[in-house]
Amino acid sequence: MTTQEEQTRPGLRFPPGFAFGAATSAYQIEGAVAEDGRGASVWDTFTRTPGRVLGGHHADVAIDHYHRYRDDVRIMADLGLSAYRFSVSWPRIQPDGSGQVNQKGLDFYKRLTEELRSHGIDPWLTLYHWDLPQELEDRGGWPNRDTAYRFAEFAAVVHDALKDHVHTFSTVNEPWCAAFLGYASGEHAPGRREPGNAIRGAHHLNLAHGLAVQAMNARRVGGCVNLYAISPATGSEADLDAARRIDGLQNRFFLDALLKGAYPEDVLADLPVDMDFVQPGDMKTVNAPIDVLLVNYYSRFTVSGAPGGKASAAAAPTETASPWVGSEHVSFVNGGHPVTAMGWEIDESGLVEILTRVARDYPPIPMVVSENGAAFDDVIVDGRVHDAERQAYVEAHLAACREAIDAGVPLEGYFAWSLMDNFEWAWGYGKRFGLVHVDFETQERLLKDSALWYSEIIRQNRHHE
Ligand code: NOJ
Repeated sequence: MTTQEEQTRPGLRFPPGFAFGAATSAYQIEGAVAEDGRGASVWDTFTRTPGRVLGGHHADVAIDHYHRYRDDVRIMADLGLSAYRFSVSWPRIQPDGSGQVNQKGLDFYKRLTEELRSHGIDPWLTLYHWDLPQELEDRGGWPNRDTAYRFAEFAAVVHDALKDHVHTFSTVNEPWCAAFLGYASGEHAPGRREPGNAIRGAHHLNLAHGLAVQAMNARRVGGCVNLYAISPATGSEADLDAARRIDGLQNRFFLDALLKGAYPEDVLADLPVDMDFVQPGDMKTVNAPIDVLLVNYYSRFTVSGAPGGKASAAAAPTETASPWVGSEHVSFVNGGHPVTAMGWEIDESGLVEILTRVARDYPPIPMVVSENGAAFDDVIVDGRVHDAERQAYVEAHLAACREAIDAGVPLEGYFAWSLMDNFEWAWGYGKRFGLVHVDFETQERLLKDSALWYSEIIRQNRHHE
């Protein structure tokens, strides 16, 4: 054993082949919204609607990744990343959301994936990270079943063009957010507040996933879910039921659909909507075989069913949304953990909990943690960003991954969210999640201490392979 190996905390040593990655998404980083034939997405419209995004921020320029992708890939290579998870912009590839294909859009992702591969970095391509072509929203958006078919058509186009360049395709990023933040709470684009249509949209997002998996016939394809550890505030019947409801809609509605081909009975019983939009054969499609499950994990929620609890929208982070559909009596309470700049409680034990749970309760499936990270109020001091809290967050969650592997979970990789500071949706540029600091005026990139640390962990793991 060399000195370097001795220095690696045993809990941070990973099996050979474990992917050390970082993640981003198209709208959050690319900018260049009017270049090379890109069409409009719902986020272009939403950011232009006063009052929707903090500070009136938009992502017309974002962090200019469209023009700086070569430099950004160089940063990834310097960090030693073995994988990079990014998304393609649907309206860049199909400006109207269907039909005509914009070759220049595809060419960008060809250049990007070639650049990644030339540095030995595996491209993990997400097809949909929330930037629905505006044209499709105008035709009804996700509550319209046709959007799922348009998505499958889009998936086939991307797959045909990039299949030789991509390591793993994944379909819909965090379908819960796309459905409930977009169509129930209205905190995200398109900003509709129609809870019934959010459920309809959720089903169509699941259907879109399955149809896309079938349309691509990809060598490696995955589905992505955002999972939360959920605790009842007390052992009272009301709190236990609140925990069941939130876990049901947040976690099991998507997990059961993708991995078991059925919606959980108790969740259906809670929902005050007629599920007649679920057509015969749909659930088999949703359950199309996948090679890997991508799990985004950030936090644990503690929930209460007691009447008079704090209104959840105020108490909970953006991603929790509010007491949507069938969970009106649920409130989110303080679980007593330290919080990030988003107000999200930090609890790495929740990551072990959800990973072991998926491994235990569902048919066997390899997994990766496809997003995990934290926003903090970073400052540059003497040319450095000493983001000890972010480093501690990532370290604790990486150790949780190791613990899950030791418990028998087939976990194959970890992607930090995010590679670089970027446009944090309804929060604009106010929340920094990056390992790499970005000056939004000059576009200068600066490795934070957490990036240097992560790079060292990756290097040490290389060494002992
Ligand atoms: C999940 C989303 O996929 C990503 O776009 C977002 O920036 C992070 N969570 C942080 O909120």
